[in-house]
This record gives sequence, structure tokens and C-alpha cells, in this order.
Amino acid sequence: MLEIKNLTKTYAGGAVKAVDDLSLTVSPGEIFGFLGPNGAGKSTTIKSMIGILPFETGNVKIFGFDLKKESIEAKKIIGFVPDNNVVYDKLTGIEYLNFMSTVYGVDDGARKKRIEKYGALFNLSDDLGKQIKKYSHGMRQKICIMGAIIHEPKLWVLDEPMTGLDPQSVFDLKKLMREYCVNGKIVFFSSHVLDVAEKLCDRIAIINKGRLAVNTTMAELKEKQSDRSLEEYFLSVTGDGR
Ligand SMILES: Nc1ncnc2c1ncn2[C@@H]1O[C@H](COP(=O)(O)OP(=O)(O)OP(=O)(O)O)[C@@H](O)[C@H]1O
Ligand SMILES: [Mg+2]
Repeated sequence: MLEIKNLTKTYAGGAVKAVDDLSLTVSPGEIFGFLGPNGAGKSTTIKSMIGILPFETGNVKIFGFDLKKESIEAKKIIGFVPDNNVVYDKLTGIEYLNFMSTVYGVDDGARKKRIEKYGALFNLSDDLGKQIKKYSHGMRQKICIMGAIIHEPKLWVLDEPMTGLDPQSVFDLKKLMREYCVNGKIVFFSSHVLDVAEKLCDRIAIINKGRLAVNTTMAELKEKQSDRSLEEYFLSVTGDGR
């Protein structure tokens, strides 16, 4: 379970309220899509709820661990794919994956199996010996994804993960995200691609100007909005009436 309660986060000494009293819960086994326009506060919420950014008020619990009081225990079960592919690019792909495995205490047998599995899935096995700085944008994205799930976290968080991936890789990633939720894990991702969110998610939330505007299961939404696509609904919630 991921529980966020009354999260508020400001920047610039309080001048910019990026996230305003946001509460939401994601249950084990769910794929959760976090939607909202540019600047709505998605990345800020994500970085706050996984302990990268300090926040002023609110509480976050990750599968029962309090993010502030039990931060190491909480962080051990989180995997994060940032939106900007920042990665140690002097390392080769395999060095990076081994580094991440060591940080998270993944034993030799498990890391070998997972590197083989995900390398094959993302068609990256032949490039793992290359330095990451020589990777293309999509290849960097894939090594970040692999590095974030090498320890099979209970909470896998991805900030706009489809950006820059080719169609086959998007397809493979969606399938992996869907499969990943079995056994009670959570996949939490932000996206602007509403078609993907509509097809993939069990639950979605829409954030607008730092405030949570919608939090619903896809099943409930379909029942209530049967005549409208998620795109139309999203625009009616966040749009300026055009
Ligand atoms: N480091 C920062 N310093 C000051 N303001 C910031 C900083 N990072 C983000 N903001 C502001 O916080 C608000 C939320 O930004 P955030 O990056 O969380 O939005 P987002 O929903 O992820 O947008 P996008 O879809 O463009 O990625 C915006 O008003 C943004 O200008
Ligand atoms: Mg963002």
C-alpha cells in the first residue's frame, strides 16, 4: 500500500506551491496512472513521496514504512525511473546494473537472471558492454528502467517512462508493467499519453495546479463517463474551456 496524506511541497522559499494538500492511496496489485498538464506537480509529488525532495507537511507510508521515520526501509523497496535519464554514464551498462544490484543487496544468482531477462526483453543485451555515454536516448531510458527494477521493488515508480522509446519498447514496457503488479506490487507512473493510461491502469488520478482533481478506478470512470474517452474527460477537468 502507498499512502500519501496531506502532502504539501513548495519551492523558492514558499513562493511556489507545487503540491497542495495532496492525499491518495494506491493498493497492492494496482497500476496507477498519475496524470496532469505540464507544471501540475506530478514530478514534484513523485520525488517527494519517494524521499528525493524534502516536503513541508504531510506523511507518506510505503507498505507500512513511514518515509520520514523509516526512510532506509522505505527506500529499499522503491525503484525509481526519473524523467531525465540521469545515470552514471562513465560506467558500462553491465557495470551500472551490477552497481545497482550491490547497492540494493541483490545476490549474484538473482542479478544474473534478471539482467538476462530484462536485457532480452528490451533488446539491450548486446549493448551492455558499452559505456552508457555512448547510448542513444532510448537505450539510456532502458538501462534506467532495468536499474530501477533489478531489486524487484514493491513500489516501482516511473516518471513519464514512454518518452523516447520506440513502439516495440513501449509495447514491451507496458506488458512488463502489467505483469509486474502480480503478487501485490504497485506500479506508479506519470504520463501524458492518455491512451496508454486508459488501457493500462487500474486507477488514475489527475493533478491540476498542485491539487488532486480526480482519483478513481478506471472501472468507475468508464461506468460514469461511458460516452467520453479519458482524453475528453482529462481536458474537461484540466482544460481552459477551449
Ligand atoms: N526546482 C524547482 N524550483 C522552483 N520551482 C519548481 C522547481 N521544480 C518545479 N517547479 C515548479 O513546480 C511546479 C510543478 O512542477 P513539476 O515539475 O512537478 O510538474 P509536472 O506535473 O511534472 O510537469 P511536466 O508534465 O511538465 O513534467 C511548476 O510550477 C514548476 O514551475
Ligand atoms: Mg514532470
